[in-house]
Amino acid sequence: MHNKLSGRKKRDTLQKNYHFKKNGNPSVFLLKMLLSAAPNYLSGSELATALKMSRVGVWSRVNNLRKNGISIEATQNLGYRFAGEPNFIEENLINAWLEYIKCNQCLVDVRDKVSSTNSEIEKSLPDRLSKVPIAIISNEQTNGKGRFTKKWSSPKGGNIYMSVGFKPNVDVIKLRYFTLLQGIEIARLLQKETNTEDIKIKWPNDIFLNGKKIGGMLTEASIDCENVNSLTFGFGLNVNNTPRLVQNHFGVSSMRQELGTSFLLNEIAAKIIKVTIKTYRKCILDKLSTSLFASWKQFDFLYNKQITLLSGKKEIQGIAYGIDDAGGLKLKLKNGRIKVFHAGEITVKK
Ligand code: BTN
Repeated sequence: MHNKLSGRKKRDTLQKNYHFKKNGNPSVFLLKMLLSAAPNYLSGSELATALKMSRVGVWSRVNNLRKNGISIEATQNLGYRFAGEPNFIEENLINAWLEYIKCNQCLVDVRDKVSSTNSEIEKSLPDRLSKVPIAIISNEQTNGKGRFTKKWSSPKGGNIYMSVGFKPNVDVIKLRYFTLLQGIEIARLLQKETNTEDIKIKWPNDIFLNGKKIGGMLTEASIDCENVNSLTFGFGLNVNNTPRLVQNHFGVSSMRQELGTSFLLNEIAAKIIKVTIKTYRKCILDKLSTSLFASWKQFDFLYNKQITLLSGKKEIQGIAYGIDDAGGLKLKLKNGRIKVFHAGEITVKK
């Protein structure tokens, strides 16, 4: 499964590094230990000692986690082991993944159903947030928002609908490349997770797999005199569930539909949160290198394709030619000239 350690080394590492804090959540800690040991077992007494509780206490926590859909195997003489995720986001499990991948600087709020996670962040931000970002993840959205007032189909379970909210209080210029960089980081992460190079970005906001859209980003901000008060990064990713509304619609798909295998939803969601915070910090701290978009070509879905760009009511046709230093799309027009565009909706000629 996800285990990177093995045998004795794993056990030594566990004993040395994992100390349950008094105000910590025992279920999250228990899961983090099981994730670290997987696919191996941890004995009931080892877990009980680490959690400073009885073995019956451990057993009862394990049972509650099972009721929440997390698969934990128990075998006599061996103990417990993590055996699988539910096909939805579970609050203890995503927090355990976040701790396991060392992403501790974020509040996570898991919901069953909301209208839109971006809208929920907007409601939460003013009072709940100062320096710590907040991630709201829902297992279903009734009014998921896409770009250009489109809807984002968000059926229950199997997919990721998340928004991460920040209160930057910085000049808008610092965050001008945020979404494009997020695209690169998310595509890089998903290439690694799926072990395929066919994960691409369709400029500027879409994530594609095998030429079909599997994810979309929607960044919204409240800006006051060039100062960004709040920033909401919304991301929808079709992982194990292809939206029914568009199932036979050419061009939309899910990771499972394309690759024929299911993915661990909570693990992927936690990694996306980590990447989002990393990109945000890079922007805020001016840690962007000069060759910002050097790796764009490797992820560029549009490169060398004949496309139509809809800019307002105007349709412009040309061949996509990558992006410039400011992240604008370069289009080779019919007359041979290259023109750069900073916004627009793209359709690709079949
Ligand atoms: C697009 O491709 O047009 C962008 C889609 C963004 C969808 C996500 S799902 C989570 C977050 N909440 C929303 O209402 N929208 C974004």
